[in-house]
Amino acid sequence: MSPQTLAAPALAAIVLAAGMGTRMRSTRPKVTHALAGWPLLGHVLDTLDALGTPAEKTVVVVGPDMPEVEAIATPRPTVIQAERLGTAHAALQARPALPAPPETVLILFGDSPLIRPQTLRAMVARRAAGAAVVVLGFRADDPTGYGRLVTDTDGDLKAIVEHKDATEDQRAISLCNSGVMAVDGTRLFGLLDRVGNTNAKGEYYLTEIVALARADGLACAVVEGDESEMLGINTRAQLAAAGREVQGRLRLMAMEGGATLIDPDTVFLSMDTRLGRDVTVGPFCVFGPGVTIGDGVEIKGFCHFEGCAVEAGAILGPYARLRPGAAVGEGAHIGNFVEVKKASVEDGAKVNHLTYIGDARVGAGANVGAGTITCNYDGFAKHHTDIGAGAFIGSNAALVAPVTVGDGAIVGAGSVVTRDVPAEALAVTRANQINREGWAAKFRAHMRRLTGKG
Ligand code: UD1
Ligand code: MG
Repeated sequence: MSPQTLAAPALAAIVLAAGMGTRMRSTRPKVTHALAGWPLLGHVLDTLDALGTPAEKTVVVVGPDMPEVEAIATPRPTVIQAERLGTAHAALQARPALPAPPETVLILFGDSPLIRPQTLRAMVARRAAGAAVVVLGFRADDPTGYGRLVTDTDGDLKAIVEHKDATEDQRAISLCNSGVMAVDGTRLFGLLDRVGNTNAKGEYYLTEIVALARADGLACAVVEGDESEMLGINTRAQLAAAGREVQGRLRLMAMEGGATLIDPDTVFLSMDTRLGRDVTVGPFCVFGPGVTIGDGVEIKGFCHFEGCAVEAGAILGPYARLRPGAAVGEGAHIGNFVEVKKASVEDGAKVNHLTYIGDARVGAGANVGAGTITCNYDGFAKHHTDIGAGAFIGSNAALVAPVTVGDGAIVGAGSVVTRDVPAEALAVTRANQINREGWAAKFRAHMRRLTGKG
């Protein structure tokens, strides 16, 4: 088969992300801000991936000097909109990156991260059923500021009128433009070429293509979605509102996947959090990016995790903190006020109270007593502590890295260990204890005489 006869992929997408988002009052472009540990633009791109949009046909329109946005878009092509002349102008910049646009081109905004794949699927289906332009609409309680969807008596879309350009009658329409469109790829750039800028803002409005398509005798349609999906993020308060929506979805997914969340409203998840079956999560737990929890793990309240992996059957918390590079083995216990960083706590090991384990290995079945510290940093470099399988570290030990405690060795409580301990040995570094019989009573009598007190 020659390349010419191969069917073109059916979908492409243009994601507008050239705005800085001045209302965020940030030094970073708006779409780089995180929602559930994932940039706003990343949410939109993931949704397009879920829909099967090929990466090489997902074009992201960025502003000048936005390397962070380009990095999020990679490996997808980016084009630069040098001047912010409006949404139609922004979409037009994608033309060189889409020389042969497919049957359907989706246009989305990088700052609207809540749209679901199934909503876009419904738009693509409507487009395949013959509409040249399909617009995602929603009913807003307060439509102020949104473009209004003007429909004819059969519900077909006639035009979109921006709030600033709308008449009083048009402003009474509650059906609003979300900004998302699915457009016939063979007509898109021709329509965009014809958009003018004689309107209240003096901008080239993407929304104009509806009236232009209608004038060409093409059908335009509305697909209605839920308002909760349409939230566009312009301010930090809207970012927080979107966060609540996303957390609601993630908590539900976690529970549907077989995890028990004792009080879901107090558990904060990231887009990539993986919870196994029969995991129990107590109240007030935070899962930062990169966390995987195995089956049957019990997480008690007030834990904080990021960049860590926990194997089946482990018990964590309350008040446990697992930082990047923490790996907790099967059935291991990490108790209250224990911090683990870049360290493995192997199968069945116990680190139950008030301990710091960093740059270390705690061998299988080892027991680390309360208040143990791996002293991993000398002010210049980090060093490794290796605790062998079945070793017993007494309470309040300081293990000064680099140091090795062999398999089955015992470290006496309160020891400061600076040299390697052989397997099965005892290491004690405390001064010998001295008991002086009757000394305390004599001391008190002496002090009473001296001070006249007590
Ligand atoms: C737009 C729609 C409006 C809709 C609303 C939904 C137009 C003309 N209006 O209005 O009908 O109800 O969204 O939230 O499309 N952008 C660029 N380059 C530009 C201009 C915008 O990349 O030159 C990007 C922005 O970064 C943003 C998106 O396009 O991500 C939307 O632009 P914005 O100015 O927020 O449009 P609205 O006035 O909200
Ligand atoms: Mg907007």
